[in-house]
Amino acid sequence: MATGFPDCLKEFATEFDREFVRLLKPPDDVPPVLAEAMHYSALSPGKRIRPYLVARCSELAGGSRCGVWHVGAAVECIHAFSLIHDDLPAMDDDDLRRGRPTCHRKFGEAIAILAGDALMMLAFELLVRHGPDPIRVPQLILSLAKGGGWSGMIGGQAADVLGENKPPSIERARYIHERKTAALFEASCAMGVIASGGTDEVLSAMAAYGKHLGRAFQITDDLLDVTSTAQLMGKRVGKDVSASKQTFPGCVGMERSRAAARESANEALARLAPFGEDADDLRSLANYVVDRNY
Ligand code: IPE
Ligand code: IPE
Ligand code: MG
Ligand code: MG
Ligand code: MG
Repeated sequence: MATGFPDCLKEFATEFDREFVRLLKPPDDVPPVLAEAMHYSALSPGKRIRPYLVARCSELAGGSRCGVWHVGAAVECIHAFSLIHDDLPAMDDDDLRRGRPTCHRKFGEAIAILAGDALMMLAFELLVRHGPDPIRVPQLILSLAKGGGWSGMIGGQAADVLGENKPPSIERARYIHERKTAALFEASCAMGVIASGGTDEVLSAMAAYGKHLGRAFQITDDLLDVTSTAQLMGKRVGKDVSASKQTFPGCVGMERSRAAARESANEALARLAPFGEDADDLRSLANYVVDRNY
């Protein structure tokens, strides 16, 4: 069983972070504490799976990872925003994220809310400011807005909060997972392909890979909330049961949840068949996503 990141993801995160710091350089007129809170959350050590998906899907579509750093940065900004707000007292009320105090614990709720808002806006600014080809920018914006917005991540977060204390329902859990997590995975893959002008066939294969991978990822996140430790995860565990969340383990138990995660990972893997060895990194990512212990 894989216990850590695949090497390809670890190396990628180091490479990506160099560019991410550069892209997050604030203009002179930004209130320093706002920039500090944005940097604190966005640049803290995350796995960088979403920018990795952007980069690898761009390469599979015939582009280069160097041409899409800002696209990966845009998705990672939306992700960082989602985490800051997810941790707020009105939502999951968490005090630990990526091994550090959560943004609102460090900067207060008002600045944390605004840092999340500003990261969301910055995501779109990055796409427009850094291209690539201006013709593709509206398509990238649409993809990110759909993956992150009311029918994607934010819609899923709303359903997640509304699902608390309702009777466990696997349909509800699936609905939530598909939106709060899988939609941004799907958008990351689609945006990588769009940014490098890939064909419609590649776009639909990679978007489907991302969606199934995102499902597998969130089921595993639910499992790890039961089985892992705060030390390994860098965030509190055991929170889903105490908040009466709709989770896979809560609905169908541990074994069936593990099987469901594997089934989604296999669905993701099936989408990679046409790409041969070029997709080996994405295969190892899909296996890592379900075998990880943090
Ligand atoms: C955490 O995502 C939120 C979920 C969708 C479960 P990640 O596990 O990718 O978080 P980081 O970016 O590595 O911290
Ligand atoms: C949150 O799901 C997914 C987001 C959109 C942020 P969780 O609430 O399970 O994520 P963690 O466990 O706090 O990272
Ligand atoms: Mg949550
Ligand atoms: Mg949470
Ligand atoms: Mg969780």
